[in-house]
Amino acid sequence: MAMVCLTDFEKYAKEHLSKTAWDYFSAGADECYTRDDNLLAYKRIHLRPRVLRDVSESDTRTTVQGTEFSFPVGISTTAYHCLAWHEGETATARAAEALNTCYITSTTSTCSVEEIVAAAPNGYRWFQMVVYQDRRLTEQVVQRVEALGYKALVLTVDMPYLGKRHNNIRNQFKLPPHLQFKNFNGLQKKQATVDPKAYITSDPSITWKEVHWLQSITSLPIIIKGILTKEDAVLAVEHSVQGIIVSNHGGRQLDGTLATIDALIEIVDAVKGRIEVYLDGGIRTGSDVLKALALGAKCVFIGRPVVWGLVYKGEEGVREVLQILKDEFRLAMTLSGCRNVAEINRNLIQFSKL
Ligand code: FNR
Repeated sequence: MAMVCLTDFEKYAKEHLSKTAWDYFSAGADECYTRDDNLLAYKRIHLRPRVLRDVSESDTRTTVQGTEFSFPVGISTTAYHCLAWHEGETATARAAEALNTCYITSTTSTCSVEEIVAAAPNGYRWFQMVVYQDRRLTEQVVQRVEALGYKALVLTVDMPYLGKRHNNIRNQFKLPPHLQFKNFNGLQKKQATVDPKAYITSDPSITWKEVHWLQSITSLPIIIKGILTKEDAVLAVEHSVQGIIVSNHGGRQLDGTLATIDALIEIVDAVKGRIEVYLDGGIRTGSDVLKALALGAKCVFIGRPVVWGLVYKGEEGVREVLQILKDEFRLAMTLSGCRNVAEINRNLIQFSKL
């Protein structure tokens, strides 16, 4: 089967995963309005291409937190990769390394961070985490990834509780017994046995005070994931974090929020270039990437398409997903009259009602 676009991988994954696993990966919260609108919102935004601008040469490279990537698409944090492919996150890490882009590893990965680093020693990685009630456990996780050379901590802030995902409840979904959250093995815990579910959500009582606490225990940059308003974006700047990811968790948490591409604009305007703003949610084509960059995202991240690539062919499948998106982005960029990411700006965008 020739894979031409990201939805080809989606179809393949749906056909080849068990129903329970497919339902887990594809789930959105409640009525899935936000999950679906993350994609539809791109269709409401039109491009204003410029022509006759010599696009014979083009360059998709960009920088994120001062590091150069081959194109402005990274891998967002998704859990349980061993459920999609037997090599799990080690395959994902190798694909990200091969394409020279950023891989945000999930705290609840099914390979350990040590295995992931060993699989792709030259890869550029951030670590996604939450703050647990057991602060000592949180601290040990931070020390573990800092020692391994992770380049930033991505603090997920939209998960004080787990969103209501209907099919997962119907399927009584839980991590199969042969898989584990390996990042907690060997760490000291307040309670001897911890329910694995407790590793997913954060301490619901945390505030910006805990962001300061995190800053006090690490020298790594902190990126806040899950910002959807200008008010919180300004607070992020005031609390000296190094970046934010505009995200609604792929529509898996609060249903009814704006699509991330629609939330991006007020956030970019409020941040005024003081920190880098990234986005995830609903990116499926190169022109989606172009639109997000035109509206001010420095880089975007993809979640589910990486899982589909894993289901298709492990590392090779994820490479294909990234390569297709890179090629499509280059095409959309040059067809719009831009030779590089610096030439992409808001003049490219036309908002219209369909
Ligand atoms: C996620 N996401 C997520 N986010 C997070 O902060 N920690 C996590 O462990 C996970 N796990 C996870 C699992 C699965 C199966 C999905 C689909 C998503 C959210 C993820 O990082 C990202 O925000 C969305 O996936 C982006 O939307 P798209 O690209 O999937 O549309």
